[in-house]
Amino acid sequence: MQRRGRKVAIAGLVIGASMLGGGAVIAGTGAGDDEALQPVRQPANGNVERRVDRLLRQMTVDEKLQQVQLLSDGQITDDDAKKGVGGVFSLTDPAKIDHFQKVAVEQSRLHIPILFAYDTIHGYRTTFPVPLAEAASFDPAVAADDFRISARESAAVGIKQIYAPMVDVSHEPRWGRIVEGSGEDPYLGSVMAAAKVRAAQGNDYSAADKVVTSVKHFVGYGAAEGGRDYNTTDISERRLRDLFLPPFKAALDAGADTVMCSFNSLNGSPGCANAHTMTDILKREWGFDGFVESDYTAVSELRACPPKNPDEGPCGHGVAADGPSAGALALNAGTDSEMVSTHIRDNGKQLLSTGQISMRRLDDAVRRILRVKFRAGLFEHPYVDQTKIAASTLTAADRADARKAVAKSVVLLKNDGGALPLDASKSVAVIGPLGDDQHDMLGPWWGQGKDEDAVSLLTGVKAQNPATTFAEGCKMVDADLYKPENECPDDSGFAAAVSAAEGADQVVVALGEVRGQGGEAEVRSKIDLPGQQLALLKAIKATGKKVTVVLFNSRPLDLTDVVANSDAIVEAWFPGIEAGNGLADVLFGTVNPGGKLPVSFPRSVGQVPIYYNHEPTGRPCDTTQKYNSRYRDIDSCDPLFEFGYGLSYTTFTFSNLALSSKTLRGRGDSVKVSVNVTNTGSRAGDEVAQLYIHDPVASLSQPVRRLRGFQRVSLDAGQTKTVTFRLDASDVGFYDDGGRFVVEPGSIDVYAGDSSKADLTDTFTVTGRSRG
Ligand code: NOJ
Repeated sequence: MQRRGRKVAIAGLVIGASMLGGGAVIAGTGAGDDEALQPVRQPANGNVERRVDRLLRQMTVDEKLQQVQLLSDGQITDDDAKKGVGGVFSLTDPAKIDHFQKVAVEQSRLHIPILFAYDTIHGYRTTFPVPLAEAASFDPAVAADDFRISARESAAVGIKQIYAPMVDVSHEPRWGRIVEGSGEDPYLGSVMAAAKVRAAQGNDYSAADKVVTSVKHFVGYGAAEGGRDYNTTDISERRLRDLFLPPFKAALDAGADTVMCSFNSLNGSPGCANAHTMTDILKREWGFDGFVESDYTAVSELRACPPKNPDEGPCGHGVAADGPSAGALALNAGTDSEMVSTHIRDNGKQLLSTGQISMRRLDDAVRRILRVKFRAGLFEHPYVDQTKIAASTLTAADRADARKAVAKSVVLLKNDGGALPLDASKSVAVIGPLGDDQHDMLGPWWGQGKDEDAVSLLTGVKAQNPATTFAEGCKMVDADLYKPENECPDDSGFAAAVSAAEGADQVVVALGEVRGQGGEAEVRSKIDLPGQQLALLKAIKATGKKVTVVLFNSRPLDLTDVVANSDAIVEAWFPGIEAGNGLADVLFGTVNPGGKLPVSFPRSVGQVPIYYNHEPTGRPCDTTQKYNSRYRDIDSCDPLFEFGYGLSYTTFTFSNLALSSKTLRGRGDSVKVSVNVTNTGSRAGDEVAQLYIHDPVASLSQPVRRLRGFQRVSLDAGQTKTVTFRLDASDVGFYDDGGRFVVEPGSIDVYAGDSSKADLTDTFTVTGRSRG
């Protein structure tokens, strides 16, 4: 089935217009018309469908039930492969992959190959910056470089499906998995998701260097209450569609052929038991013809606790009485493949005989899985060519791309008195627990990245300035569980750090989190610098030297005290294997930083959730008055750093905001918005032109700002470029609580500038009305 309508150029990409709306094209640069990035969604291939049908007709019930089973690396046996198991994940040894594939292809009755999957989240061996960092680049080419290399390296060992991109929109800095996504904005998240899918899959994911992507976690996982992982979510239909679904739709429009349903319950219905999201929206409304795999034991977790049979895996949600009911519920709701737990496979025959599941639905699930396997070319090329792995992995060109990605993902948060860039001819002291650290640079979900491949900050800085010294100050130790002694516990190393600072011309302090403080199940109730790190910073600042802080972290941190005790702050996230080199490029000014925050940084954890695209209230925040929506003890209505914020070593101005028309006549019409960006400083640099809209009067209260276009542009000193965005009905409309997309007549305010606080503004009027 061919899906979804018209495509538009955006930020150098071409993206389905249905959810994303308009986009940016830079006048005269050629960006925006890159043929290589055309949409790849292919019509159902008659040949594939015939092959699927032929195979399905030959399958016994047992074989069908094996096909919907997805086992982990620790579970798979020869016997499973012989019986025709559908998928295996987390196996990375190419010899083992090849072994099980041979058993499946040569010894199972119908010779159906296994689909091998892996969590290649931000690199397989060539670890790129974490996804939140890639989003900070506001450059889909960075995400595309990662996923092009990720796909090649994964496919080389026999992995043909990756559990990425993770596209969960989140307003929750406490949630450790915020690092895996693109932050708080559905539009930025959509652009990044589409870029990743296209890069990993290409036009045809059967190619030897391509993989099928699995977009996750469907859906609402990023809204976990209290930020606690796996926790309940309750999201209105309109919020679901306006905020959480767009990146999934964008990924599917770009060709993603698999989806992972989520752990969390959404309005009482867990992700893998949710017929509304998986069947009504994903499969029926969006016409998705690939398959949905459950998250890890998510089917088992549908059962009530204590479980009737504890051997069958974890329990939890209490929407199924026992294993068979959980299997039936998941399959009937739209889950096609069960990860780790085995309720559908083990109880399928009984469920068929009692009518709790139908053969029609089982066939549908199997058909979807086989379709993806045929599209992946697995029947033609099931095996790994081990002679090609080395040449496809961690090449010098890959490392060079990873290094560029680091520099592009960095966000300069503060730079008082020109503290940065550093002078390469003067000595530097690198100080801090993360200063000479390879392990943590890889961040959460490091794939097959190796600590020894990573370049620490110290190594990178020393390579560009041999007159560099180091003092650790205190230790941060990566460990699974919280132990205060692992988190910069005391000041015994401070004196040596202070003397290193005193002995150097310039000081860089590397602070933040270890990689184990972010990612799955890693939730923090505080979002400040762990342990005594702030005290270390204060001791260094007291030397009177100019202090640059380089931050490594998975989440927005409360940086109030860091701002007060530093001259410059570089938000480096977890940059991957080229961390030190890419950061040194920025610190010494070879590369001018141009990243922007993809998520708001609060002033304290008490401000959470805080996000730029919130709705207005009847009593907007005013810190000088009583009876309004404020915090009594925070002297501001804003976050410390807003979405879209980021500095440069040069300066930019925005001017000449112009609209091609003052009216938008509903569907089919569009308005072009152009704005000039000028580099007013004395060195070349990148700026991200951002376009926001606001609908001031609508039948449902609309966000105060919504990002609807962005473009990262490189400008020489003194140079001006005109950036053009296109807005159409899909940009100005919104969803109602019946799930209908509504375009209402009335004015739309447009804002252009360098962050979500952009103040250059104009207005146009929508004259048409539509609903549905
Ligand atoms: C659980 C995680 O939630 C999911 O993102 C991941 O893909 C699976 N485990 C498989 O590793």
